[in-house]
Amino acid sequence: MKTCLITGASRGIGRAIAIELSYKRGEISKFILVARDIMELENTKRLMSLSPNIETFVMDQADLKQVEEQLGIILENNTIDILINCAGFVEPSSLLETTVENWESTFTVNVGSVFLITREIVKKMKSYGGKIINISSTAGLGARPGWSAYSASKAAIINFSLTLSEELKEYGIKVYCISPGRCATDLRKKLAPDEDPASIMQPEEIAYVVNNLISKSGNSLDGQNIVVRQQINEKII
Ligand SMILES: NC(=O)c1ccc[n+]([C@@H]2O[C@H](COP(=O)([O-])OP(=O)(O)OC[C@H]3O[C@@H](n4cnc5c(N)ncnc54)[C@H](OP(=O)(O)O)[C@@H]3O)[C@@H](O)[C@H]2O)c1
Repeated sequence: MKTCLITGASRGIGRAIAIELSYKRGEISKFILVARDIMELENTKRLMSLSPNIETFVMDQADLKQVEEQLGIILENNTIDILINCAGFVEPSSLLETTVENWESTFTVNVGSVFLITREIVKKMKSYGGKIINISSTAGLGARPGWSAYSASKAAIINFSLTLSEELKEYGIKVYCISPGRCATDLRKKLAPDEDPASIMQPEEIAYVVNNLISKSGNSLDGQNIVVRQQINEKII
């Protein structure tokens, strides 16, 4: 029986992953859902299967001290077999309008806290093995004028994942990176307020891929950055 921790589980892609895994992966007997908004975490819990044990934890990933403290509490009573780093933050702005605060909070939520959560969990996971899935973005693979902090942070996660997939092999830990294209969530609304959410990929599409990686079929994959995006009229977006 396995325990799965999912960050960013209060909305969007993280919520879709939590719901999908709760119904499809019977071997996961416990979920630990993490985000800032406790009401929305409880709403995610309500949408999940009734079978697994589900705990919710409030954690602000912009505050590394709080991340360390909360993880300490979580890890006192749990061993994590599957870690899904899904939380993400964006405040799009041009280079000249990007404040140091924006740059720092983008990097703390999207990179610094991912490093810290992963390091603390791997301290225990290295004795029994496991799987880590990091959610990056196609924004980390190419130029995105007006989103430089976000794009740079997502590029960092792609290489962080590739590096860890080699470094943690000896412990039986598999590390995957998923880079979604545009997907109908609140975060995407911030980036493209005029876009019709019904016309783009839905969060469930990412959840299906995560489910495959957690299943045995995912064991033959490792290290690659997996791009998941919808193709409309043969134009890749
Ligand atoms: N949507 C897209 O088009 C797209 C494309 C590529 C990659 N992604 C990536 O997919 C992941 C999920 O994003 P989404 O699209 O599902 O966006 P979303 O619906 O806005 O969800 C973002 C999640 O991150 C959490 N989060 C944000 N700031 C946080 C903080 N300071 N501390 C803790 N948790 C925080 C939010 O929880 P609280 O607000 O409750 O804290 C929420 O659960 C992100 O890593 C994002 O970069 C999204």
